[in-house]
Amino acid sequence: MTIGGLGARGGGIVLDEPQRLYVADALPGETCLVQPESRRGDGWTARVLDRLTDSPDRVAARCRHFGQCGGCQAQHLSPPAYTSWKRELVVTAFRQADLPTACIGLLAMPVAGMRRRVRLVARRHGTNVRFGFQAFSSHVVVDVAECPVMRADVWPVVTRLRPILPALLTDGRALDVAVLMTDTGADVLVIGPGSLGLEAREALATAAQAGDWARVSWQSEEAVAPEPVCCRHTPVLTWGGTPVEVPPGTFVQASAEVEASLLALAVEATGSAQTVADLYAGCGSFSFALAAVGRHVHAVDRNAAAIAAVRHSAGMWSRPLTTECRDLVRRPLSAAELNRFDAVVLDPPRAGAANQAAELARSAAPVVVSVSCRPATAARDAATLVAGGYRLVSVTLFDQFVWSPHVELLLVLQRS
Ligand SMILES: C[S@@+](CC[C@H](N)C(=O)[O-])C[C@H]1O[C@@H](n2cnc3c(N)ncnc32)[C@H](O)[C@@H]1O
Repeated sequence: MTIGGLGARGGGIVLDEPQRLYVADALPGETCLVQPESRRGDGWTARVLDRLTDSPDRVAARCRHFGQCGGCQAQHLSPPAYTSWKRELVVTAFRQADLPTACIGLLAMPVAGMRRRVRLVARRHGTNVRFGFQAFSSHVVVDVAECPVMRADVWPVVTRLRPILPALLTDGRALDVAVLMTDTGADVLVIGPGSLGLEAREALATAAQAGDWARVSWQSEEAVAPEPVCCRHTPVLTWGGTPVEVPPGTFVQASAEVEASLLALAVEATGSAQTVADLYAGCGSFSFALAAVGRHVHAVDRNAAAIAAVRHSAGMWSRPLTTECRDLVRRPLSAAELNRFDAVVLDPPRAGAANQAAELARSAAPVVVSVSCRPATAARDAATLVAGGYRLVSVTLFDQFVWSPHVELLLVLQRS
């Protein structure tokens, strides 16, 4: 088979068959001997038995786990082919939403080693514990011995956790482990079934001490909130010169570098705005960056712990910020409420902000900065705003999730 295209998940696609074939680890132009395996959507997945020709865009993968680990899907693409593939994913989503595409920027070349926030999984089978990431489209855990995507200071935390995992896991069970590098050290959250015994707590506290971690928390899958196991330093991240105590497990942008670019662009795009609504504000990264340049910001999120952290830091450091804990899907800010703002920052989860976008489309807010890690929902919500009279000014792309199919976008829309 000759591979005709590159799919949204980084696999090759055979187009000229009655039914499409989705071939992992095959690039456009390559001829491969393939074995169809299972049905997928409008076609079949297939495995490469033999690659007869190599694409000029093929490069050697950086990581020994590439191909098994589900974390990266595109390490085999040359940087120019990789960046144009990712940009094309965004262009396709915008075309499908009938949006202009000329304002979509280029993607910078991928930079490894930027992730300060990672979520790993550990699974125990007998005495064997696998610790790493899930295989592509599977619950099988790939035990990782390296990860070039992580920031250098994350790996020692992973290494220190590994020997204590048997104390945390019973046979056949799995745990999620979230690691965030804060200004004051690692913030580790372990999530699993049931409760955590004394031996496991002691093992975690000892590891925290040895690695000089900031905090370790445990969250039972049955509980609503995490509980601290040990807190050695307050885990803090700083935005706009304001330190914020980050609650365990709350959202923070995966890369500090990309976050800094997003914040700088949001400050620039909101120009002379005096009042800004930061919707889906999380721990207040955009809010504090905007407050630092004198804007009056109203931060809204449904996560009560995140909003409490924003309120506490705003009060402590006298920042011009108000906060509101509110579910923006059930109760989006109405057009009338939005009309008191000169600009709105919108940074929803992957599902997007359909209800909030509908209210924005009816509002008079002059500028909307829309941030998203999912082109399809970002385009859908932008189309709602455009139908309501906004003009799409620019779409800036960031490679926050290097070698994955995920792209971070920042859209600027203005009332024309
Ligand atoms: C992509 S994060 C953005 C957070 C923040 N802007 C940042 O850059 O760190 C999405 C945020 O949406 C919040 N969220 C999710 N669903 C929500 C809802 N229905 N209403 C309000 N906030 C919600 C989450 O708590 C999370 O903080």
